[in-house]
Amino acid sequence: MVQLRDDIVGLDAAIFMHPKVWQASGHVAGFADPLTECKNCHSRSRVDHLLEAIDIQADEKMTEKQIADLFEKNKKQIKCPNCGKNDFTTVKKFNLLVKSNLGNFTENWSREPVYLRGETCQGIYTNYKNVVDSARVKIPFGIAQIGKAFRNEITARQFIFRTREFEQMEMQYFCHPKQEMKEYEKLRDARWQYYLDLGIKKSNLKWHQHENLVFYAKAAYDIEYNYPFGFSELEGVHSRGNYDLTQHSQFSGQDLSYADPATNEKYIPHIVESSVGVGRTFLAVLTEAYTEERVKDEERLVLKLPVALAPIKIAVFPLLKNKPELVKKAHAVYDDLKTYWMCEYDETGSIGRRYRRQDEIGTPFCITIDFDSLDDDTVTLRDRDTMEQERIKIKELTDILQDRLK
Ligand code: GAP
Repeated sequence: MVQLRDDIVGLDAAIFMHPKVWQASGHVAGFADPLTECKNCHSRSRVDHLLEAIDIQADEKMTEKQIADLFEKNKKQIKCPNCGKNDFTTVKKFNLLVKSNLGNFTENWSREPVYLRGETCQGIYTNYKNVVDSARVKIPFGIAQIGKAFRNEITARQFIFRTREFEQMEMQYFCHPKQEMKEYEKLRDARWQYYLDLGIKKSNLKWHQHENLVFYAKAAYDIEYNYPFGFSELEGVHSRGNYDLTQHSQFSGQDLSYADPATNEKYIPHIVESSVGVGRTFLAVLTEAYTEERVKDEERLVLKLPVALAPIKIAVFPLLKNKPELVKKAHAVYDDLKTYWMCEYDETGSIGRRYRRQDEIGTPFCITIDFDSLDDDTVTLRDRDTMEQERIKIKELTDILQDRLK
């Protein structure tokens, strides 16, 4: 978003912000999960997850009372996931913001705890004016950032799908009120295409429309991915009206309206957002890339990652580790290539084993230096997916790899 789009700038906001930020955002009052405790084993569970287990969906936008009523109505069918008993307390809400002891031990501090950020976008809103004043942006424009967010999740589960500390990527796009829905549709299209570009199959993606919108939202859709445990939220694409900047304006006393330099019109920008966890994206990409194949009666495990996402792009091997002339030449090739790409040098085990090791971490290309390399300055270049090998001149390697790793 930041590199390829001229209308989006990058930001790295603070993790700790003034507690008022979280009051303005509504998190202090409303960012809560409904919980119940098993009277037998005292383990706590999220009520929406217990309902989900008996195929009843509780929307996150339901009020505390609505969820509690739904739970009361159905609780006879529900068993505690820990001990299997059916005896629960009444439903209570549990705030997800993580408190810290940052700051002075003043009277004020004890009344007003400092929080770790529960989402990265609040740092975008609080820096909106700084960006307008310094980054030569004009509406419509976006601010994107990637960084840690923290939530006191009751059930951190399903691999890295839900964790208490997670990396979030959010982009907030500021636009004229009349353009909000047009920009929202554009963002939805762009986000869908993004996942196809990451190599995710269309059949493993779907849109989920939120039914109960918060009062200020005009539309909210999730992109869901077909994880090993079924379709679940990967990203949220929301149209948020002017709620966020209005709230921050009121709580901070700063005028956050935008003055259009062409028309002199003054208004509080409306926002459309894209919000996604890096961990969830990683889990989706990993699930998609993981492949088990049979090759000549042997099982091959290979991560068919798009080349842009492969953590190691090239591995370099000398055919034998006890032949100093092969090792020296392999090192020379490796030392050159690693100035351009992330590379790995490996001399242990048979060549077959070394190929398999790289297949398992998704390395797109392996280069082997053998005895012919000493005579004619060529190497074998092996492709991860086709497993085909070709002979390439060392002096042409960089250009060829540049082209294939685009
Ligand atoms: N600013 C909007 C917002 O934060 P959200 O639906 O609460 O919306 C957005 O979170 C995305 O962040 C989710 O779609 C998910 O990818 C990721 N996410 C949220 N909570 C998470 C957690 N506990 N662990 C991992 N990822 C999480």
